[in-house]
Amino acid sequence: MSGLARLEYRGYDSAGIAVIGDDGHLAMRKRAGKLSVLREDLAAHPLPGGVTGIGHTRWATHGGPTDVNAHPHLADDGKLAVIHNGIIENFVALKDELVSDGIEFVSETDTEVAAALLAREYGAAGGDLQAAFRATVGRLDGAFTLLAMHEDHPGLVVGARRNSPLVIGLGEGETFLGSDVAAFVEHTRHALAIGQDQIVAIRPGSVEVTDFDGAEVQPEPFEVTWDAAAAEKGGWSSFMAKEVSEEPEAVANTIRGRIHDSAVVIPELDGLDELFAGTERILVIACGTAAYAGQVGKYALEKWARVPVDVELAHEFRYRDPVLSAGTLVVSISQSGETMDTLMAVKYARERGAKTLSICNTQGATIPRESDAVVYTHAGPEVAVASTKAFVAQITALYLLALHIARVRDSISAADQARHVAELEAVPAKIAHILEHEQERTTQLAHWMADTRSVLFLGRHVGFPIALEGALKLKEISYIHAEGFAAGELKHGPIALIEPGQPVFVIVPSPRESSLLHDKVVSNIQEIRARGARVIVIAEAGDAAVLPFADEVLRIPLAGPMFEALLAVVPLHIFAMGLATARGLDVDQPRNLAKSVTVE
Ligand code: F6R
Repeated sequence: MSGLARLEYRGYDSAGIAVIGDDGHLAMRKRAGKLSVLREDLAAHPLPGGVTGIGHTRWATHGGPTDVNAHPHLADDGKLAVIHNGIIENFVALKDELVSDGIEFVSETDTEVAAALLAREYGAAGGDLQAAFRATVGRLDGAFTLLAMHEDHPGLVVGARRNSPLVIGLGEGETFLGSDVAAFVEHTRHALAIGQDQIVAIRPGSVEVTDFDGAEVQPEPFEVTWDAAAAEKGGWSSFMAKEVSEEPEAVANTIRGRIHDSAVVIPELDGLDELFAGTERILVIACGTAAYAGQVGKYALEKWARVPVDVELAHEFRYRDPVLSAGTLVVSISQSGETMDTLMAVKYARERGAKTLSICNTQGATIPRESDAVVYTHAGPEVAVASTKAFVAQITALYLLALHIARVRDSISAADQARHVAELEAVPAKIAHILEHEQERTTQLAHWMADTRSVLFLGRHVGFPIALEGALKLKEISYIHAEGFAAGELKHGPIALIEPGQPVFVIVPSPRESSLLHDKVVSNIQEIRARGARVIVIAEAGDAAVLPFADEVLRIPLAGPMFEALLAVVPLHIFAMGLATARGLDVDQPRNLAKSVTVE
């Protein structure tokens, strides 16, 4: 149950557990709703003790979140239990085949079909669970992590993975499987990565890994670099609150070890100078918040590295016959490293000859393993569904990448490189300053606005993707309408939305380096103010030009134009969290969402 609690962020609309009890029988409890519902059920109807068990938290794909559709799914007269992540694409054909064999189904899930198929193969294989499992996964199309156990084989759990995560934890006389190391990190930090299309059989003291044909493979060992405490709430009211407070460290840890003599040198990219020198175009692919980080990164990559950059949503990318060549560097960004849309886009790009580099926060995840190179963000485990500290770490990694490539391509002077490095290194303290000085007021503002029905966000330059991020965060956790716009776009349509009282956040660029941009945004503020908008300005300390037109001013420390992105987003994260809290919502687990979207 504690392992499931650590994985609950992945999906939380139902949960279940099955164990092979010491009495030799398989027993199961499963319930729709959050893990707490299952916990209460288990307290009222305890399972027998045993040494073998599987558990699951679900984010519904096939069939709504009901008790019956929850996992595990049973077959072979309740002796066999199966749990599954992903989507089995050919489940309808398989179900028809099994129904014509006289098998009856109780749920609407694709998983129950896999369980029934495994039961049939188990019979055919004369009770050899591993052989039956191999035969079963060989017939499944789509993406899946599938685990199974049978009461005839206490002490054995079999698992398989295709395009969906699964890692092994090696304890002392005990072995674990998890979608993520968080599932077992309180027991062991020794882990093994399982590759694509591999099958694993675990027993208390042993691990066997094969490919889908049964040929033995050597899994890759790795050590988890953080401990269980890092994935715990500590004294915080929510994981999101904890993670926002960790934004300074997320940036600092991502920079650490990557600066030498006032220039960026990313050790993981050693040996890739020729690739960067020959790069004709960079294509950034990602989803959601990670894609907004990519949009911020575009400004830095083009300005400093002088490479043309396009940013594209991963799920759009591979369905439009994109132009790719050997000179295209595809940079994917993913906190989890498991987002299916992004993974598929990376694979697609690679198949078409592009070089791939991933920016990822999760060691050993699938996307970095499928890429030619990886730059890890070191934000630490992010548990709240809404991404916060990973976002600032992603922007930091993109800035580092831009400065690394700029150095290799000699596209900026050593003095400019050193200036940007110094700016970047100053960011953690500036974020800490915002947390210390603006958090209370921003939270108070959010409380006053708890009944607001819609909030708009405006920005320019790097402030534009930050406006999009502010809007996404708000809608995601507070369920109110929010939209972000490029401030210059306002008069091309969105200004029609402004009516008296409409709250609008405006991210104002610094007047010091570009008075033009600053003054344009101040004009935009006047335009919406004249139409009755309630204007909340995020502006740098000392910018007095905004005062006559702002209802509220949230201050950020002075920073160069590129670096304001990393500062302006902080009050927006605090605001979204404050507003959702004021509305009595669960900020860590917003409705309908899951942290890792491992289905397309
Ligand atoms: C929003 C959020 C999502 C993720 C997106 C990509 O707060 O967290 O939009 O950014 O689902 O996830 P990763 O980065 O894991 O690929």
